[in-house]
Amino acid sequence: MISEEFDISKIISNLENTQEISDSELEFLIDGNYDTSELFSTSDKVRRRYYGTDVYLRGLIEFTNYCKNNCLYCGIRADNRKAVRYRLDKEKILNCCRKGYELGYRTFVLQGGEDPYFTDDRICNIVSEIHRLYPDCAITLSIGEKSKESYQRYYEAGARRYLLRHETADPKHYSSLHPDSMSCENRKQCLYNLKELGYQTGTGFMVGSPFQTTENIISDIHFMQELQPEMIGIGPYITHFDTPFHEYPNGSVSLTLRLIAILRLLFPYALIPATTSLGTLDPSGREKGLKAGANVVMPNLSPVDVRKKYELYENKICTGEESAQCRGCLERRINSAGFHIVNSVGDCIRNCF
Ligand code: 5AD
Ligand code: FES
Repeated sequence: MISEEFDISKIISNLENTQEISDSELEFLIDGNYDTSELFSTSDKVRRRYYGTDVYLRGLIEFTNYCKNNCLYCGIRADNRKAVRYRLDKEKILNCCRKGYELGYRTFVLQGGEDPYFTDDRICNIVSEIHRLYPDCAITLSIGEKSKESYQRYYEAGARRYLLRHETADPKHYSSLHPDSMSCENRKQCLYNLKELGYQTGTGFMVGSPFQTTENIISDIHFMQELQPEMIGIGPYITHFDTPFHEYPNGSVSLTLRLIAILRLLFPYALIPATTSLGTLDPSGREKGLKAGANVVMPNLSPVDVRKKYELYENKICTGEESAQCRGCLERRINSAGFHIVNSVGDCIRNCF
């Protein structure tokens, strides 16, 4: 496609006003050659209209790096014998919450690999204890694909949010990133189950994962238009040396920023994090993400001695800092980008209307 065919101002203002866009326009917006300043200024305007300059914090507790799966891109895949495995016990997890609470966090995200040690009973026990101790906090789980019954049990224990990136909505692309034991269909079903159970649901995908095409990204957007997730997390793919994908290059920061802006226009209510992977590939990546339309940051609350071990990808940032240092560092970064931290649960405002 040549740029003359598209009126970029018209596409963007139409998208802003109606959230509608054709596939060929979307393709142009994603990888066309045009001046992106209007895209970014409009997404900034839309974010300010819905969320002002508020940035919500989610305290991330990476409580296990054991994983039974073998996603080809992921550093904690089961077959990576070089990964040094760890689990946090309930006491340690509660310690992270206590520290986080003192630092102002009102959302805890429990993230881990798919670790069979953490049975539903164990997860429910931990979730209900956090819920009992911190009734004013939201509990988010990010522990992969489970049965609908399990998701229901976690909900009953007090979890209200769940993060499960779909990774790619295209079944062929999905099977090039995952072993045969995993399927795109099951992943999507899990997400529909979560929505049905009443979870505030987060999904998303990696930008620049091996074999990803622009068409794949358009399918990702269509899938999310159907699912209507409350949260959308995207970040650049980053090579991990000890995976089968060690020879594939990193994803692009600038494409990730463009996509954040496009997602803000398509999903004005969405909670969109400026991800750690964005900050890993570019020292000011998270600030750029916020300026492009993101409104969430997920600082690490895990104990410092395990942080380096939760290595989904190489050179992950914030692995040497204490939680309090991360909090201070982020606050400065967020303020300098022209935003401010809100110490609240930070629900998706779509549910408040
Ligand atoms: N690069 C970037 N993101 C990754 N993730 C897993 N491995 C990588 C990688 N190598 C992302 C996946 C997963 C989330 C927790 O981290 O999208 O859902
Ligand atoms: Fe753990 Fe993919 S390697 S979910």
